[in-house]
Amino acid sequence: MKVLSVVGARPQFVKLSAVARDFASHGVDHVIVHTGQHYDPMLSDVFFRDLEIPAPNEHLGVGSASHGKQTGAILAAMDDVLAQHEPDWVLVYGDTNSTLAAAVSSVKLHFPLAHLEAGLRSFNRRMPEEHNRVLTDHAADLCLAPTELAMRNLSNEGLSDTAVNVGDVMTDVLFHVRDTLLPSRPAPHFDGVTGEYFVATIHRAENTDGPARLREIVDALSSLDRPVVLLAHPRLRNRTDALGIDLAQGAIHVEDPLPYPELMAAVLGSAGVITDSGGLQKEAFLLRVPCTTLRTETEWTETVDLGWNVLAQTRHEIAISVTRPRPQPTSAAPYGDGNASAHVREALTARLQLGHRDT
Ligand code: UD1
Repeated sequence: MKVLSVVGARPQFVKLSAVARDFASHGVDHVIVHTGQHYDPMLSDVFFRDLEIPAPNEHLGVGSASHGKQTGAILAAMDDVLAQHEPDWVLVYGDTNSTLAAAVSSVKLHFPLAHLEAGLRSFNRRMPEEHNRVLTDHAADLCLAPTELAMRNLSNEGLSDTAVNVGDVMTDVLFHVRDTLLPSRPAPHFDGVTGEYFVATIHRAENTDGPARLREIVDALSSLDRPVVLLAHPRLRNRTDALGIDLAQGAIHVEDPLPYPELMAAVLGSAGVITDSGGLQKEAFLLRVPCTTLRTETEWTETVDLGWNVLAQTRHEIAISVTRPRPQPTSAAPYGDGNASAHVREALTARLQLGHRDT
C-alpha cells in the first residue's frame, strides 16, 4: 500500500509523527509532502527532528499568503506530485489550508482521499478551520474520526458510510513522548519565572486579527496572579508588532514557540494552560493539567464535560477560570488508548481491499 501524506502546519507534523512511525514498522510505502505553509524552523524543522519524522520527499515551499492564494498555490503544485507518485491513498490531516488544498487536488485527479481527524465541528463558520474540515470531510472517501462525538457529527451530515472511529493519533504521540523522551529532559527553565506559572499560546485569527480582542487578551493575561509564559506564534508577533502592542506586560513573559517535548514538559510543570489551540487543550487534559480556552466554543467538548477545560472570553472569566479549584480526577479516555495510528493503517488497508465508494 502506498500512502501519500500531505502536511504543512505545526499540528500536522505532530499527527504525522505517529502515523509515520507506525507505517515504517509495517512496510507501508509512505511518501511525505510538506506544503511549506509553516516555514519557520520553530514551527517546522524542530518537529521533524524531535519527533523523528522522515524528511519530506517533496517540499512545495508555498509560504504565507491570504487564504485563497495559499490554498490555490498548494492546489496548483499538487497536480505534478500526485501524477508522479500515484498513491493508493492521499492522507490529509486536520483543518488547515494545506488539508483542504490537498483534498481538492486528490478528488479532482481521482486519487482516493482519507481525512485524519475527521468529524470535528465548532459550528462556527467564521473560523477558516471550520470550512476546511467540513469541505474535506465531504470530499473524502474515508473519514478517520478521533472520537464518538466526531462519528456522530459525520453521521448527522450523512457521512456514516465513509466514517471509522480510529481514536486520536495525538494521544499516541503524547504517550510516546511522555514515556520515551520526557524522563530524560530537565524541567524547563524560563528566565525571570519562579514558582508556579501558566503556559499560554494564542494564534487563532479570531483572537489575533481584531485589535480590540487582541488587546483584551493581552490585558487579561498581563493581570493574572502568576507568571504567564506566553509562547508567541509568528501570527501573534506579527499582529502585536503591527498594532504597536507590547506583549511583555505585567505577568507575561514572552518566549519563542517550544519544540514538542519541551512544550509537554512545560505544561506538566505548570499550574495551568491558557490557549486557543485545539491540540493543546487535549494535551493538557491527557497530562491532567487544568486548561482555560480562549474561545467561544471547542471541538473537544469532552475536556469541558469532564471539568478539565473551561471556555473563557473576558478578563474576568479568564481570571476566575485559572484560579478555579483543581478538577475531579478521572480515568475517562475519550481520545483513545494510544494505538490510533495502527487503527488508521488497518482502516486504510481494509478500505483498499473493499474498493472505495462508487462516486
Ligand atoms: C494554521 C492553521 C491552523 C493551525 C495553525 C497551527 C489555517 C487556516 N490555519 O494557522 O488551523 O491551528 O496553523 O499553528 O491553515 N507565519 C510565519 N511563519 C510561519 C508560519 C506562519 O511567520 O512559519 C505567519 C505569517 O505571517 C502568516 C501567519 O503567521 O501570514 C498565519 O499563518 P497561516 O499559515 O495562515 O496560519 P496559522 O495562524 O499558522
